[in-house]
Amino acid sequence: MPIYIVILGAPGAGKGTQAEILSENMNLPHVSSGDIFRENIKNETELGKHADSYMNRGELVPDDVTIALIRDRLSRPDCKNGAILDGFPRTPGQAEALDKMLAEFDGKVDLVPFILVKDEYLIERLSSRWTCKDQGHIFNDKFNPPKEEGICDFDGSELYQRDDDKPETVKNRIAVYLEQTSPLIEHYRSTGVLKDINGARKIENVAKELVLALQFMEEL
Ligand code: AP5
Ligand code: MG
Repeated sequence: MPIYIVILGAPGAGKGTQAEILSENMNLPHVSSGDIFRENIKNETELGKHADSYMNRGELVPDDVTIALIRDRLSRPDCKNGAILDGFPRTPGQAEALDKMLAEFDGKVDLVPFILVKDEYLIERLSSRWTCKDQGHIFNDKFNPPKEEGICDFDGSELYQRDDDKPETVKNRIAVYLEQTSPLIEHYRSTGVLKDINGARKIENVAKELVLALQFMEEL
């Protein structure tokens, strides 16, 4: 049976950072809805043009578009053993659609690590984040600097600051998260798959707690 892990947390909580580590450790693809949208914006596709205006305002892209995008991604052969989902689902409608599509793939949401970080740290982390242009690898001036300034350690591409990391947009992203995404915390807690993770520690210590969460998943 395929394994699906959904990483939940506010903007800047460390979803992408931990999903990259977990993806490598578990040999499962990292599926980030935000990364797929950014790739489409870079390539100037119709989807990219549609998503850009929502992302720039820190609003969510409509459910129908986002669900179709994730369905397409999870249907690809590299996801046959499952995936690490980051940034999806983000609304109750997306969570319901995910359950239905995973059932079609003979799977289910197996584990939801919920990375909790206080708002003040989120803003600090996002204002010092640098992202790689080519593959979206994540760095931070203060907490996880690249070996060479402005260059990705993994693929040598240029690092840039995301447009939606401006303080006003970050504040709206956090508000949107609280209003539309945070109901998923109680939803997944009630289905027994949620595991609380303290995200306010060093990246490697958060990663260690995630490894423990995988043991919790095996006990389910
Ligand atoms: P998305 O790209 O998903 O952004 P997000 O959820 O706002 O989350 P971020 O990527 O900003 O944060 P993260 O939790 O991944 O943190 P990271 O690991 O980078 O979505 C962007 C937009 O796309 C949305 O606003 C929406 O418009 C659209 N969208 C995407 N999915 C959608 C969906 N399902 N439905 C509708 N619309 C959707 O870490 C942040 C920084 O902190 C980094 O610099 C990192 O190095 C650093 N850091 C990480 N961990 C630690 C640590 N433990 N200690 C110190 N620093 C740390
Ligand atoms: Mg991210």
